[in-house]
Amino acid sequence: MRVFITGASGHVGSGLVPELLQHGHSVVGLARSDASAAKLTEWGADVARGDLDDLDGLRAAAAAADGVIHLAFRHDAMVAGDLTGAAETDLAAVRAMADALAGTDKPFVGTSGTGLLGRANLGRIGTETDTMPGGYRIDAENFLIDLAAKNIRSSVVRLPPVTHSTLDTSGFVPSLISFARRNGFSAYIADGANRWPSVHTLDASRLYRLALESAPAGTRLHAIGDEGIEVRRIAEAIARGLDLPTRSVTPEQAPGYIGFLAAFAGIDNPTSAARTSELLDWHPTYPGLLEELAEDFYFKEA
Ligand SMILES: NC(=O)c1ccc[n+]([C@@H]2O[C@H](COP(=O)([O-])OP(=O)(O)OC[C@H]3O[C@@H](n4cnc5c(N)ncnc54)[C@H](OP(=O)(O)O)[C@@H]3O)[C@@H](O)[C@H]2O)c1
Repeated sequence: MRVFITGASGHVGSGLVPELLQHGHSVVGLARSDASAAKLTEWGADVARGDLDDLDGLRAAAAAADGVIHLAFRHDAMVAGDLTGAAETDLAAVRAMADALAGTDKPFVGTSGTGLLGRANLGRIGTETDTMPGGYRIDAENFLIDLAAKNIRSSVVRLPPVTHSTLDTSGFVPSLISFARRNGFSAYIADGANRWPSVHTLDASRLYRLALESAPAGTRLHAIGDEGIEVRRIAEAIARGLDLPTRSVTPEQAPGYIGFLAAFAGIDNPTSAARTSELLDWHPTYPGLLEELAEDFYFKEA
């Protein structure tokens, strides 16, 4: 398939583009800068220049492809606190690409997060059948799922808060490490007994490919390797890697120590991928988060 990917130059894209090319697909990646375009060319992908606000460009690129994978998200706006603006851009981009795909039965794989279930305080392990009526990023997820009724083979991959590997230079783990360096300690909130799920970037990449190739229309998928690791254990692994102490902070203090991560660090988000594994015969094979934090690559100063 010729696949149009937004966010192809990012962390998940850096695993996914080679995964698709190695399995016989060709890739056209959206690039908003010369640097991102150069990365894509180096990886063997073609480039569509533009950004998420260029809705006509997104429509044209989606129409010219056999399938679409949407990864891009305005993390710069999210980190600056403009969650609403970032989510609105996301939904508008998804709508534009859906315009081009309606009635074609082509695959359209979108991205969401299991953290949204954590923020809803389920109080139990989250599954692919858990849904929410609306909200931040959920509106785009629900819109994508409903595209099945418009003859688009839509699916959504919910990524966990931590997607980790040597390809990860700007996700939650590098952010926690950078806050720990600045603070002189590795922080967790309260007793840190809340759990975060995680997945290796290359396992997640394989799931995106399988979703593109064969997910039934209107399917929510979970990219989960570790179902839930206590955040205190993650903080301790970071402390060991940096040779720093750990410290508990209150929810009120958290923004001062871990910035935008304070909105996520306290969530309890144990998540299952059992249905995803069964549906697509997807089984994570790469190392887990704590195994990777015992290595040194996350702790090398840039
Ligand atoms: N990584 C995780 O742990 C995690 C967890 C949950 C959900 N997710 C979601 O998974 C998706 C991929 O995440 P990631 O970790 O790969 O993110 P990333 O490394 O920050 O990459 C983001 C990608 O989006 C592109 N982008 C950002 N703003 C754009 C804009 N205005 N117009 C066009 N392109 C834009 C970036 O382009 P440039 O290269 O030009 O900057 C980059 O290719 C995102 O939707 C993210 O929210 C990730």
